[in-house]
Amino acid sequence: MHLENASVTQHRPVAGAYRELSFETTRIARETRPGQFVHIRVPNLGESVLRRPFSIYRADGAVISILYKEVGKGTRALARLARGDTLSALGPLGNGFPTPADGALPVLVAGGYGVAALYLLAERARSKGVLFVGGSGRQDLLCAGDFEKLGWQVVAATEDGSQGFKGRVTGALDEWVKSGLGNRTPEFFVCGPMGLLRAMADRAKALNVRAWLSMDRHMGCGVGACLACVQRIRLPSPPGAWKWARICRDGPVFEAGDILWDDREDG
Ligand SMILES: Cc1cc2nc3c(=O)[nH]c(=O)nc-3n(C[C@H](O)[C@H](O)[C@H](O)COP(=O)(O)OP(=O)(O)OC[C@H]3O[C@@H](n4cnc5c(N)ncnc54)[C@H](O)[C@@H]3O)c2cc1C
Ligand code: FES
Repeated sequence: MHLENASVTQHRPVAGAYRELSFETTRIARETRPGQFVHIRVPNLGESVLRRPFSIYRADGAVISILYKEVGKGTRALARLARGDTLSALGPLGNGFPTPADGALPVLVAGGYGVAALYLLAERARSKGVLFVGGSGRQDLLCAGDFEKLGWQVVAATEDGSQGFKGRVTGALDEWVKSGLGNRTPEFFVCGPMGLLRAMADRAKALNVRAWLSMDRHMGCGVGACLACVQRIRLPSPPGAWKWARICRDGPVFEAGDILWDDREDG
């Protein structure tokens, strides 16, 4: 983990309210693994203001990119940054996704900015697989073309039917499962809103396959000290045992079967 003052190298609109912000770091980019994140102190917000976490979308040489949407004070300030400005970046943080298992078919499932956490996995995976990407309309299907350029199959789903399957991304995935999985067992890698994570945990259980879920939670310190981001995680024994895990440090990626969802007694 490194704390660096990073210089903005590029800032460009991607689609809808999303932008890609690239900045040069000396060490963070080189050590980044797929699914890790960077904790950014946005300039001009005052020193006391908390950092904001963003998945590392690309890491190329010394440059990192994030893909973000303007939703509040921090991201509005981020949107004003121009080439040459500096920001403070702490990272790479979190555990990231594991390498897809040999022989398994990697199946990535993304909602909204979830594609940002999955791109490096697709770029670095030994074998290519399928990306399922969903959104309300075609403007939300971020960066699908980048995965196609890597040679991945992309299945799009939009709720308004403007592109691909009409409905939720899990609907597109169910159709694909019904059409037969071939001779490879899928392994799911998922990033998106909580509803998508839970829906994918249910599917993984029903299909008896592994699913790695990247959890999104409001964060304070980002390094395991403040306990703002805790999640109940199942322990292997004795039956029913669990512990509090810190999403920022022990996650954000957890195996679906280990997560105890708050409103379910048995998880
Ligand atoms: C591990 C991790 C990776 C992330 N990766 C990305 C990414 O790649 N791209 C991206 O655009 N965003 C990402 N986020 C979410 C991002 O951190 C928040 O959108 C950002 O902190 C909002 O800051 P703000 O000051 O603009 O908004 P605030 O003023 O703090 O909040 C504005 C609104 O956004 C909501 N919000 C704030 N944080 C989150 C969050 N973590 N999840 C859901 N809603 C939130 C608030 O409840 C509020 O409604 C990630 C979050 C985590 C925990
Ligand atoms: S954000 Fe502080 S412990 Fe996770």
